Amino acid sequence: IKAGQGVKGLSEMEITDLPKQYIQPQSERLCNMKTVEETSIPIIDVSNWDDPNVIKSVCGAAQKWGFFHIINHGVPLEVLESVKKATIMFFALKPEEKRKYFKENSSSNHVRLSTSFVPEAENALEWKDYLSLFYVDDDEALAIWPAICRDQLLDYMKNCQVLIKSLLQVLMTGLNIHEINEKNWSLLAGSKRINLNFYPICPKPELTVGVGRHSDVSTFTILLQDDIGGLYVRAPDEEGWAHVPPIPGALVINIGDALQIMSNGKYKSIEHRVIANGSKDRISIPLFVNPKPSEVIGPLEEVLEESDEKAKYKKVLYSDYTLYFYRKAHDGKATLEFA
Ligand code: SIN
Ligand code: FE2
Repeated sequence: IKAGQGVKGLSEMEITDLPKQYIQPQSERLCNMKTVEETSIPIIDVSNWDDPNVIKSVCGAAQKWGFFHIINHGVPLEVLESVKKATIMFFALKPEEKRKYFKENSSSNHVRLSTSFVPEAENALEWKDYLSLFYVDDDEALAIWPAICRDQLLDYMKNCQVLIKSLLQVLMTGLNIHEINEKNWSLLAGSKRINLNFYPICPKPELTVGVGRHSDVSTFTILLQDDIGGLYVRAPDEEGWAHVPPIPGALVINIGDALQIMSNGKYKSIEHRVIANGSKDRISIPLFVNPKPSEVIGPLEEVLEESDEKAKYKKVLYSDYTLYFYRKAHDGKATLEFA
């Protein structure tokens, strides 16, 4: 048995039955749920972030869908391609090379190769392996991130900087905050994490999930996916699940819990999930733009004053919020009850 080689190891054994640990309850299988085929998340051309129509579309999508595609975002296609290639190369490393990044062997908790989500806490496992990298600065990343992918990832993150700033500015404009001070930058975007997700071919994909229902704990997430598809988001008014089709060159943006909290519920952190695939491997690379872990997050004063609303969430230390998220199985939007 290829113990400790993740779901990729299992997939490569070409088993025809799904191991029982991966069998999800009926209630978690997409085949038992309504999907909405006609509707899809908005596609927004962001070549000019200052265009009032762009601001309107982005803020509108953040309120209604919590998810949208952006095109003409300024990150070169070659950079996107090279990150996807680096992800494939990382997972193609020999098991003894990858083992170094397991929790029990890794010298830093800023680099972590895992399988499923939180196996210790899950009743049913998810059909996914992932490398999670917490970003402090380039020097640390160059020292401890896997050599096979670190340069490509750092290049990608550098290329995303303008987009991150512009997107935050636009989202804040929608909250009537026109100048982002240093304190707010740290609250909104004081840390980053990048994950490399690998979803191997799965026997009996309909019985399990790639990722279970959850919302992200980020301020927002920039998702790069390959051309396979399989990500579904809860459509507005909870009518069903909408597929997020791969669009070549586009990036997917989704609002996370931290921004739902800071905007006092105006922007929505939407539940999403990934199905398993019976015929193809899939990769995706989410870049999480997060509050700094030491920040206390809560509805922004500016938002409360402007709207004259009561705070819908209490203040929480962001590191406590993420710790709570990473200690339990995926469970929809339940993490938000912590705030
Ligand atoms: C996730 O939301 O955890 C993964 C998204 C994806 O793989 O498309
Ligand atoms: Fe997610």
